This record gives sequence, C-alpha cells and structure tokens, in this order.
Amino acid sequence: MTRIAIYPGSFDPPTRGHEDLIRRSLALADRVIVAVAVNPLKQPLFTVAERLAMLQAAIGDEPRVNYQSFDGLLVEFARQVGATIVVRGLRAVSDFEYEFQMALMNRQLHPSLETVFLVPALELTYLSSSLVREVARFGGDVSALVQPGVAEALARRYGR
Ligand code: PNS
Repeated sequence: MTRIAIYPGSFDPPTRGHEDLIRRSLALADRVIVAVAVNPLKQPLFTVAERLAMLQAAIGDEPRVNYQSFDGLLVEFARQVGATIVVRGLRAVSDFEYEFQMALMNRQLHPSLETVFLVPALELTYLSSSLVREVARFGGDVSALVQPGVAEALARRYGR
C-alpha cells in the first residue's frame, strides 16, 4: 500500500522552513502532496500558480513529491487523493492552539486521517511567511530565509 501524506498550507510565499518540512515528510510517507489551499477570504501576495512553481523550484527533482492546489475542505481533498496523513509544522507554543483545533476538527470530519506534527530545523523555527513578507515589504534581506527565486519575486512584487 502506498502511504500518501498531504502537506497543506498557504505557502505565501514558501520559505526554507516549508522546504525543510517537505523533506522531513518524506520519512513518513511514500508520496507527499504539497497542497496549496485556495482561500477566497484571503488576499494572497502570490497566485496559486506562482506558489506551486516556487515550491517545485525549492524541492527540485524529487519524484516522491507532487504539488497540487485545492479548495474546500482539506479532508475532502485527502479523500480524493487517498491520503492518510496530514503533516503540519509546529514551531512554537503559539502555533499549538490553532493546530490542535484544526487537527481535532479534521479528525471529527475524517476519523481515519491522522495529523502528524513535525518540528522544523532549529534555525528555521522563528520563520513564517508573514514575517518574510513584512521584512521584504520594507526592503530587508530575506535571502537566508527563502529560495533565491522567491526573494527575487518578493522584491519585484514590492517594487524593488
Ligand atoms: O499555512 P496555513 O495558512 O496555516 O494553512 C492553513 C490550512 C490551509 C492548512 C487550513 O486553513 C486548511 O486546511 N484550509 C482548508 C479548509 C479547511 O479544511 N478548513 C477546516 C480546517 S479545520
């Protein structure tokens, strides 16, 4: 049986923390689907297609990882693709409440779908897409935090 994990998120933009989690997920599953959520309530900086391309560029040639977008409920997407695991990153205690709520709601909706929390590399623990956007917006150097292509896309988006 092929074990399929989903790593869902907004990835706006993908950071080196996301990249680290995707690589770690490969230890848990035969295939990892990196799933960009389409959220009509959010105004993302990058389109879904841009985020998928950035994720693909970050991971490179890894046949066990593929990239998809989904709208609607994560649990429905998991059913469609036959995934049994959802991977989420836990960076700090501040992540915990939101992640715990989401994991329990997803279990309510899909009891056999397991949420697994992975801890990122220590040096990436402070990292988040929203902080990266903020630093880039004010012209700060994000080159250690994201792939070069993402840093360039941020600079272009913020008119630098
Ligand atoms: O990177 P994010 O923004 O923290 O990711 C959150 C995400 C996309 C995983 C979550 O909002 C999600 O699963 N959205 C899909 C809609 C859904 O299933 N919502 C109920 C979750 S309990």
